[in-house]
Amino acid sequence: MKIAVLPGDGIGTEIVAEAVKVLNTLDLKFEMETALVGGAAYDAYGHPLPEDTLKLAMASDAVLFGAVGDWKYDKLDRPLRPEQAILGLRKNMGLFANFRPAICYEQLVGASSLKPELISGLDILIIRELTGDIYFGQPRGRRIATDGHFPGAEEAFDTMRYSKPEIERIAHVAFQAARKRKAAGSEGRVTSVDKANVLETFQFWKDVVTEVGKEYPDIALDHMYVDNAAMQLVKEPKRFDVVVTGNMFGDILSDEASMLTGSIGMLPSASLNTKSQGLYEPSHGSAPDIAGKGVANPLATILSAAMMLRFSLNQPEAAERIEAAVQKVLSQGLRTGDIWSEGTTKVGTAQMGDAVVKAMR
Ligand code: IPM
Ligand code: MG
Repeated sequence: MKIAVLPGDGIGTEIVAEAVKVLNTLDLKFEMETALVGGAAYDAYGHPLPEDTLKLAMASDAVLFGAVGDWKYDKLDRPLRPEQAILGLRKNMGLFANFRPAICYEQLVGASSLKPELISGLDILIIRELTGDIYFGQPRGRRIATDGHFPGAEEAFDTMRYSKPEIERIAHVAFQAARKRKAAGSEGRVTSVDKANVLETFQFWKDVVTEVGKEYPDIALDHMYVDNAAMQLVKEPKRFDVVVTGNMFGDILSDEASMLTGSIGMLPSASLNTKSQGLYEPSHGSAPDIAGKGVANPLATILSAAMMLRFSLNQPEAAERIEAAVQKVLSQGLRTGDIWSEGTTKVGTAQMGDAVVKAMR
C-alpha cells in the first residue's frame, strides 16, 4: 500500500501530520512518501506541481492531501498558482468522481448555525464531477495576463462544457452509490442538480443523467435547479440522499453543505478515478489565517484517511476503527476551536490527533 503524502500549504502540514499519526497506529504496513505541492512547491522549485510530485502521486495507490493556497501567491500567473496543483493532480490522475459526504455527528448538532431538528441525523452525499465543466473549458491557459490579472482588457471568458461519456460515468457513480446506501437503509434517491433552464451544457447534463437513470429502476431520480438546491440545502437538508452535479455547482454546494454539519473542519472527501486510485483531502482549504498556530481541526483529514482505507486500500475495518475513534473523542467533549461550544473542552490540532490515537487503542 503506497501512499503519497502531500501536505501542501497553510494548515496542510499540521493536519496531515495528525492523519499520518493515526495511520501509523493501525497494524498495517504502509509505504509513505512525502512531497511538496502547491505554494510550498512553488517556493522550492518554481512550480506548484513539480514533475516528481506528480510522478509520485501517479505511482501510488492513494494520495493523502492537505490543502494548497495562500494570499501571498495571488499575484502569480494563473498556471503557477498553488490551486493549479490540485487541479493538475485531478486532471492527470483522471480523478473524475469526488465524494463529499455531509454527515452531522449527533455530538455536534449544536455547533451548526441551523436549528438542531433540521440537521439531526443528517447523512447526505454530494458527488461532484471533478475533471470537466467550466474548470477545464477552452480558454484555460490561453489568456494573456500579467501577474494573474488583465490590465486594460475589455473582457474575459471561460467555457462550460461536458461530453456525454463524462456525464454518463459520473451518473453511474451516483446511482451506484445510492444503491449501496439504500442497502444500508437510505432512501435510494439521486438528485441531479443543474441549470437546465439557462445553460445548454446543463440541459444536456439533465438529459444524459435521465437516460442513465433508466438503468436503475430501484433508485428514484429527481432534478433540481442549482439555485433551488442551494435553498433546499438549508431549508430541508434531510430531503436529499445522493446529490450529483457538475464541477462548479458541486464546489459551491459542498461548501454550503459542510456548514450543515457544524464546521467545514469535519468534512472529508475522496476523489477517485476508474482504477480506484484516489486522492483524499479535507473539503476545507489551507486557512492561512490560522496556519502554524496549532489550532486547526485535523478531523476532516483524519476522516479522509479513513475514506482512503475504504475506497483505495481495501481496509474497511481499519476505516471503521478510525471513524469510531473520532466519534469517541467527540463524545468525550474534545473540540477544536471551530466546533467548540460552552461546556466542551477546547484542544489544539496535535491534542486532537493524540486523542484519536488513544481512542483507537
Ligand atoms: C475545492 C477547492 C478547489 C476547487 C480549489 C482550491 C481549486 O475549492 O476542492 O473545493 O475549486 O475545486
Ligand atoms: Mg471548494
